[in-house]
Amino acid sequence: MTETSFAPRVFSGMQPSGNLHLGNYLGALKPFVEWQGKGVETVYCMVDLHAITVWQDPADLRRSTREMCAGFIAAGLDPEKSILINQSQVPEHAQLGWIFNCVARMGWMGRMTQWKDKAGKNAENASLGLFGYPALMAADILVYHATHVPVGEDQKQHLELTRDIAAKFNHDYGVDFFPMTEPVIEGAATRVMSLRDGSKKMSKSDVSDASRINMTDDADTIARKIRKAKTDPDALPSEAEGLAGRAEARNLVSIYAALNGQSIDAALSEVGGLQFGAFKPMLADVAVARLSPISSEMSRLMADTGEIDRILMRGAERARAITAPILKQTYEIVGMVGPTP
Ligand code: TRP
Repeated sequence: MTETSFAPRVFSGMQPSGNLHLGNYLGALKPFVEWQGKGVETVYCMVDLHAITVWQDPADLRRSTREMCAGFIAAGLDPEKSILINQSQVPEHAQLGWIFNCVARMGWMGRMTQWKDKAGKNAENASLGLFGYPALMAADILVYHATHVPVGEDQKQHLELTRDIAAKFNHDYGVDFFPMTEPVIEGAATRVMSLRDGSKKMSKSDVSDASRINMTDDADTIARKIRKAKTDPDALPSEAEGLAGRAEARNLVSIYAALNGQSIDAALSEVGGLQFGAFKPMLADVAVARLSPISSEMSRLMADTGEIDRILMRGAERARAITAPILKQTYEIVGMVGPTP
């Protein structure tokens, strides 16, 4: 017995390694929260099993997982509406991941640009998990029969691979069991770049802390980082075309617009003509106004990690009500002997 029609369900994941920053907020958390209000089921996952494809200190990993969960909730995800989980607590992810290790081909994995970037010249020394990472990611998604996956541009190739795995599984076993998941790529408008270099993504792995605004930065730190952000000597243009070739200016304006929930053009009709000296304090004000309630809620939640742990445990229970039957059907399709009904 297999399902043939797929109800809309949103799934996305984020690695709990290092701090949440403004790029995660605007590029992922905000869209996650928007999906939550659209009347579809939403599942958001801290992918701790993915995180350990590169070394993680155990205490740091535990703290990052809880802090990310706190950040999700503080940003507006409601654990009653969305299912919030950490990956390792829903064992069907890893179990389906194994099946997909046997569906995906070495050649497919070897072509993943993220693998090539991360393993680099040192592939011999990279973990096997880092190479197989996208098969587990496909399992994360397909173990829910998820239909929509909001992610950044850099994950597009992994979502194409997810479709390839679903298609090969369905074809090899002659079933129509796994859906063709739609990527929902968050566009350039939500891509936040480094404050030190407008051509690089804001990233938790950048050595310079001044390159990013962390969700836990206090108001003074946020204002100082924005004051020091790289700019150019010109005034802001009044229309979006005027940002061409001005990566840093574009970045700061799009952060301003996104924080205000405006289009870039709307923001520029307000701030066009201003010098950075006048614009930066406005940007700092809106950043502090948006982020400080989130960071204080995060600290409140982090003061009692018992509450976070209960939320994740409850999330795992709800998740398993979805994933266990899908894994069971997968095992039956593949030919694993289990209890006879
Ligand atoms: N690979 C994603 C990243 O690095 C994280 C991730 C893991 C994910 N599993 C997922 C994202 C499933 C979306 C769906 O950002």
